[in-house]
Order: sequence, then C-alpha cells, then structure tokens
Amino acid sequence: MDSLLIRGGRKLVGEIEVSGSKNIALAVLSSIVLAEEPVLLRNVPNISDTRIKTKLLEIFGAKVEWMGTDVLVDCSNLVAGEPDEEMVRAIRTSFYMIGPLVARLGTLKMPAPGGCKIGARPVDLHLKGLHLLGAKITLDGGIYTATQKKLKGTEVYLDKPSAGATQHIMSTAARAEGTTIINNAAMEPEITALADFLNRIGASIEGAGTPKITIIGKRSLGGGDYKIPADRIQAGTFLLAGAITGGDVTIRNILPEDQTALVNKMREAGAFVDEGVDWVRIGAPSRLNGVNVTTMPHPGFPTDMQQPMAATLCVAEGTSIIEETIYESRTGHIMELNRMGAQIRQESGSAVIQGVESLRGATVYASDLRAGAALCLAGLVAEGETHVRNIHFIDRGYEAIESTLNALGADVQRVTESELVKVR
Ligand code: UD1
Repeated sequence: MDSLLIRGGRKLVGEIEVSGSKNIALAVLSSIVLAEEPVLLRNVPNISDTRIKTKLLEIFGAKVEWMGTDVLVDCSNLVAGEPDEEMVRAIRTSFYMIGPLVARLGTLKMPAPGGCKIGARPVDLHLKGLHLLGAKITLDGGIYTATQKKLKGTEVYLDKPSAGATQHIMSTAARAEGTTIINNAAMEPEITALADFLNRIGASIEGAGTPKITIIGKRSLGGGDYKIPADRIQAGTFLLAGAITGGDVTIRNILPEDQTALVNKMREAGAFVDEGVDWVRIGAPSRLNGVNVTTMPHPGFPTDMQQPMAATLCVAEGTSIIEETIYESRTGHIMELNRMGAQIRQESGSAVIQGVESLRGATVYASDLRAGAALCLAGLVAEGETHVRNIHFIDRGYEAIESTLNALGADVQRVTESELVKVR
C-alpha cells in the first residue's frame, strides 16, 4: 500500500489552481440519473470517490466515458442494477442516489452506505423527505428497498440543515409532480451548485443557498453540460499549507466568498490575507497566534476544514480551542498530531491546543480524509521525516496531493512499502 514521505521544513510559496469539487461532483453524479439525455460534465476531479461513483452509475445502466477531467454520462436507458455491498460502502453518497433512481426506475435496491468514520451519520432526514415525497423505503439486512408509484410535491422541514438531505430531497423533488418546499435547508455552496446543475438540465429550482428552497417538479429532465466549480476544501487546505510553513500561497480560479470563514479566522490568527475576484492569498510572515474555532453549517466555519485548521494551530503561539459541533468523532487526527509533538487534549467535545514551537516527524496514520490532510500539513512543518500511512483516505478527496504540495515547494514523495525501505 502507498504512503507519503514528507521531508518537512520548507516554506510553501506560489500560486496554484485546485481541481473540481469532490462534494459537488458527487452530488451531481448522484442526481445525474434524472437526466434522460446525455450530460457532459467538465472539471470532474479524478479521485477514487468519483471513479467509484461512475462505476455505480454503470451498474444502473448509464454509459460513462471519462476523457481526462471531462465525463460524458448517458442515463437515457437505466436498469434496476444490483450494486455489490463493498462498492456501495466505499462511499457515503451512494445513498444519495436512491431518490433520483427511484424517481426514474420506480423501484430499486441499494446496500446501506459507508464513507469516512467521523460520527454516527444518520440518514433520518433523507428518509423523512423521501417518504413525504411519496417514496417507500425499507431497510432489511443492510439493504434499502425503495419503491414509488407517484412522487408528489410536498413541504419538508429539516430538523438540521443537512447538506446531504437537502441535496437528496431537492433532486428527487425535481421530478415529482407539483411544488416542493424545503424549509431550514442547508446553505452550503454545494447546494447552490447542485441546483445550478439541475436547472441546466431542465429543473425549476429557486432559493438554493437560502434556508427556503422551492422546487417545481418536471415530468422529465433532459441533458446538457455543466462545469464542476473548484473545490473549496482543497483550496482551504493548500492555503493552510502555506500558512503553517510560514510561506505564502495564492489559489486562483476559486470563489473567495467560499473561504470567508477561513480567511477571517486566519486574519484573527495574524496571517496576511488578500483576495480578488477569483483568488485568495494567505501568507504567514511571522508565527500565528492561537484562535478559537467552532464548526457550524454554512456560512459558519466548515467542519471539513476543522482538522487542517487544528494542525495549523498546533504550531501557533498560545492556546486555541476547537469545538466540533457537526461530527462527534471527527477527532482521529488528535492522537497522531500528538505523536508528532503537538499538545492537544480533548475536553468535553472540544480540542484544546497548546501551541508548541516545533513538531517532529513521525510515522502517523490517517483515520479519515481530512485527518489525513491535517497530518500532511503537520508533516510539512515538522523537523525531519513524516511518514503518513493509510493515504487511501487522502486520495478520496485530493488528486495526487503530493504533486500539488511539491508545486508549492514541498518535498513529498508517494512511496510503496519496498520503495520506503530503499529511500530510508
Ligand atoms: C456533507 C459533505 C461532508 C461535510 C458535510 C457538512 C459530501 C459527500 N459530504 O456530508 O464533507 O462535512 O456535508 O458540510 O458532500 N444528519 C442527521 N440526519 C440526516 C443527515 C444528517 O442527523 O439524515 C446530521 C449529521 O450526522 C451531521 C449533520 O446532520 O451531524 C450534518 O450532516 P450533513 O450536512 O448531512 O453532511 P453530509 O451530507 O453527510
């Protein structure tokens, strides 16, 4: 199995672009089965999650052609395929296909989902919305069976503004008869992007990006083309890679408003921040100060940036408190960072970080995607070599992370077990 060998101590400086957004691509690929004509998706990140997702689409009869980062998907003839459990468990968003698929097929079976182990991750809000739309969904032996005779528009109130449930209900409602209103909807940029995609293929959705979304259902949706916007979490991660090393990184071709929570926190921590119409620059000419961070639904501080931010604050001056309010178990990075000399203690749902002057390289294990990103950041600033294992988690969200970091001046090598013996 591959791992990453990071030789720390280099300042990361430069300008880069990031790939298309993983979470937008996955949301679009979940709802693409609604399109009865071919769809050309551009700027699709070539990562394990999107590859698995397109394989799942093929099981349900879609024709998929990858051409670099363009993907042509033709769902004109779908079949009630039976995906194997292992494939479905590899990604959580397999579950988000149930609504759009049942809208097209009338009935289907889908094993229960997997994904990163960062909390209980219930799906009750998805099920509530789909039931209100008229779908019957039962779970038996780890397999969901979904059926519907006719989907009808409805009014849904989400007890929590869940991104996944908002996407799932919004896309299913796009093909239900009549009008659906989602109240207390999630406002993440991924919701707005999905609505843009659905509207491009003929849906009628208003209010995405606000707490109230109105969907006027259509009898059928067509095809078209859509460019996946840049990945805001990758952008944030690489901005922090500059900051943690005392460097200066600019990310181009992004939406600066997606980085508002991060750039404000980084300013508060003493970083230099500049931004233009489609770029953000963060530099850290001197040691950062500790800051407190609470994760919140958008536009609050994104939970996906919590672990990379924690790594950055490990070497800041003073104490930082990080409160994770979205996922109770998003803590797998803490023990590993402490192995590198960080001083983090867990206190009733919060991580209290006492900043240290330096970290030391060690062998560490990624427990999930963003924990893996956090360990890479720590490795960039640590003295000596850091060996990050379990990098299949990192590959789920960052396409060849070593190439991007090296383009900014890092020394990161992807190595196999036998190569590791040789390079050491
Ligand atoms: C998506 C993102 C993930 C990000 C998260 C929050 C994808 C593939 N993943 O995950 O990277 O961290 O948004 O921005 O897009 N909840 C319920 N019941 C439900 C659904 C969710 O209680 O039916 C809870 C969850 O346990 C969590 C909170 O709601 O505590 C938010 O989850 P949600 O926004 O749904 O996250 P995901 O869509 O799973």
